[in-house]
Amino acid sequence: MPERRLHNALHKLLGDRIAWGFSTANLTTLGVGGPAWGLARPENEGELAAVVAECRAEEWPYMVIGCGSNLLFPDAGYRGLLIKLRPGFEKFELDGNGILRAGAGAKVSAIVSAGLSCGFSGMECLSGIPCSMGGALIMNAGSGGGAVSDCLTRLDYMDSAGQVFRIGKANLNIEYRRLGGIPQGGIILGAEFQLLPTPPLAIKARLDEMTAQRRKSQPQGVRSAGCFFKNPAGESAGRLIDQCGLKGFQIGGARVSEAHANFFVNMGKATAADFLQLMNAVIEKVHKERGLILEPEVHIVGSGNAN
Ligand code: EPU
Repeated sequence: MPERRLHNALHKLLGDRIAWGFSTANLTTLGVGGPAWGLARPENEGELAAVVAECRAEEWPYMVIGCGSNLLFPDAGYRGLLIKLRPGFEKFELDGNGILRAGAGAKVSAIVSAGLSCGFSGMECLSGIPCSMGGALIMNAGSGGGAVSDCLTRLDYMDSAGQVFRIGKANLNIEYRRLGGIPQGGIILGAEFQLLPTPPLAIKARLDEMTAQRRKSQPQGVRSAGCFFKNPAGESAGRLIDQCGLKGFQIGGARVSEAHANFFVNMGKATAADFLQLMNAVIEKVHKERGLILEPEVHIVGSGNAN
């Protein structure tokens, strides 16, 4: 039975760093989604390559996840293996010249703090975003007019055959909320950045200003995936949804936030289907009233196989 063979192989490889039947709701900030077949936590590149090779040999879908702050899994769950690059890939170092090397599993909150205490700026755009460096890079995450790619110098990834590559910034396709140029199936392992020497007080002032702005304009202490849609060129998705009168609009347990219309909030018992219906209803209304088609920033995960 191929599945048993795969279970045994992954247990042998990872010991207690493999769990079966893991709830995707517990892995995401939205808090919805059914079970994944398994959750693997490889410690290093060798283990990661071996996990990928095992999945590929049995044609099991697999997917790397970070902090789950931008993912919507279906209620049916994920028929495949989720891979979390923690704790093995979470190290980062910032040297005296402002060169930051960070593993894909590094928490961006720790990196933002390190920049502040060492007097190097460039990562403030990630403050308040609950994500790992790998997730931030894939999304080219950012705020306050900046993005994680601004200070990027190079990126390391593993292709689906387990080979590691290093790619310079010039060879990546950097777009708003998207980092292209990594081949299909490539897994980000880490990246290097050149940060700028800046007085800590100036960094602190910037961080404080961003926090205050966030507290004023975005919902706090609720389950959401941050902004649900990308901003259309020259427009704000939040403003468009707001202008369509959709603040507070709710389907099942999923609601358009009253604080910021581009945030969809889990009111407690939402399902993935509620969020998908809410998303479609919002897209339809904004299209009808404003003639623009909103594109999700949140990654809508399929149930496996087709990913
Ligand atoms: N606005 C409304 N109603 C709303 C929300 C916004 O009228 O419900 C108006 C605001 O008054 C403002 C404009 O729309 O005039 C833009 O709003 P905001 O400053 O909140 O910025 P945003 O474009 O909605 C972007 C990022 C956020 C980031 C903020 C601050 C995207 C999709 N969103 O939001 O990032 O925190 O700027 O820098 O790029 C995220 O990506 O998950 C995210 C939250």
